[in-house]
Amino acid sequence: MRTYLVTGGAGFIGSNYIHYMFKKYDNEIRIINVDALTYAGNLENLRDVEGRDNYTFVKANICDRDAINKIFEENDIDRVVHFAAESHVDRSIVNPEIFVETNVLGTATMLNAAKKAWELPDGSFKEGKKFLHVSTDEVYGSLPEDPNAYFYEDTPYDPHSPYSASKASSDMLVKAYMDTYKFPANITNCSNNYGPFQFPEKLIPLMIHNALEGKALPVYGDGKNVRDWLYVEDHAKAIDMVQEQGRLFETYNIGGHNEKQNIEIVQTIIDVLRESLDDSDPRKEKLTYDLITYVEDRKGHDRRYAIAPDKIKKEIGWEPETMFKEGIRKTIEWFFAHEDWMEHVTSGDYQKYYDSMYGEKLY
Ligand code: NAD
Ligand code: DAU
Repeated sequence: MRTYLVTGGAGFIGSNYIHYMFKKYDNEIRIINVDALTYAGNLENLRDVEGRDNYTFVKANICDRDAINKIFEENDIDRVVHFAAESHVDRSIVNPEIFVETNVLGTATMLNAAKKAWELPDGSFKEGKKFLHVSTDEVYGSLPEDPNAYFYEDTPYDPHSPYSASKASSDMLVKAYMDTYKFPANITNCSNNYGPFQFPEKLIPLMIHNALEGKALPVYGDGKNVRDWLYVEDHAKAIDMVQEQGRLFETYNIGGHNEKQNIEIVQTIIDVLRESLDDSDPRKEKLTYDLITYVEDRKGHDRRYAIAPDKIKKEIGWEPETMFKEGIRKTIEWFFAHEDWMEHVTSGDYQKYYDSMYGEKLY
């Protein structure tokens, strides 16, 4: 049975990836999820898999060398899928240091631990071992408003925020390990994800949450910055396909050609929410475009991101399955059906859940 070490599996994309993998492989794989449970990590996201014999949660910081080495010593890890990171651009502008610690030093710790466990005396690596580093399109910087300009795998890195600089640094470390040691890895650079379990500091869940509460919807600058949106399950699928079918040492861009201005996203959320709410629901009356409030722009705000997914499509055959219209409806329906989840993550209740669920039982 193949054993996966997933870092950051209690976060948004990591938890969706774990669900995807158990849905696809069921009992054919084993997953060890290592997560420090920062504000963004939430074990409620994984309630469905907690009882499985082939799933283990380990609370640890990826910068903790001893804890990470111990996992590799006690388990024969076949695949590492490295999600754990500080992921929010606005937080990185306020407090850049934690981004360097987790994203750069944490990735170095993961690489060293995997190298130590997988390297043979002659400097080659044990057969079949693979490390996948999950990264972002933000490393490429910002595109002009020219609809023919895209990010390709060979677009030069030009990060602007402390977050993207830290992710670019971590990508460079992975590249260095591949070039120097022939360390068996891949890097994926993906565009903006949306879907279930996304923490309500990011645009889409924040707007859904505020709209349902009748609160102002803060749009940065002129609202015309463009992001390229991908449904999170499509990202999970791409990661699995790259790891199983991609060529080692390669980078693959992941994106769905779904560019939208932020203001379009906010208006769509209002429209879909209005359609979904019963006429008798008192929230409906307040839910209008009047909630849209233009606020001061993000410092150094990248204007446009757009991925060219040609390589992953041509070499691996990956294409997104969920179109935005369907994905945004599914996402809104999910948030509707999980208002308790939203309530817990915004009130800190999930920490209580974690303590009661795991107590002393932790690894
Ligand atoms: P997230 O913030 O929702 O989750 C991050 C997870 O990592 C949390 O569970 C958190 O507890 C954990 N974590 C943070 N610091 C840790 C540490 N020091 N040790 C162990 N665990 C730690 O992030 P996300 O949106 O799910 O993003 C996951 C990865 O995907 C990140 O590497 C991010 O850069 C990348 N990415 C995200 C997007 C996106 O749109 N969200 C797009 C492309 C790439
Ligand atoms: O492109 C991939 C990246 O997408 C990931 O690497 C990051 O981890 C992820 O957080 C995301 O970064 P963004 O900065 O693009 O996402 P965010 O949801 O923070 O913002 C999306 C856009 O919406 C951006 O142009 C800023 C704008 N925005 C955001 C918030 C939170 C607003 O106008 N108002 C807001 O309140």
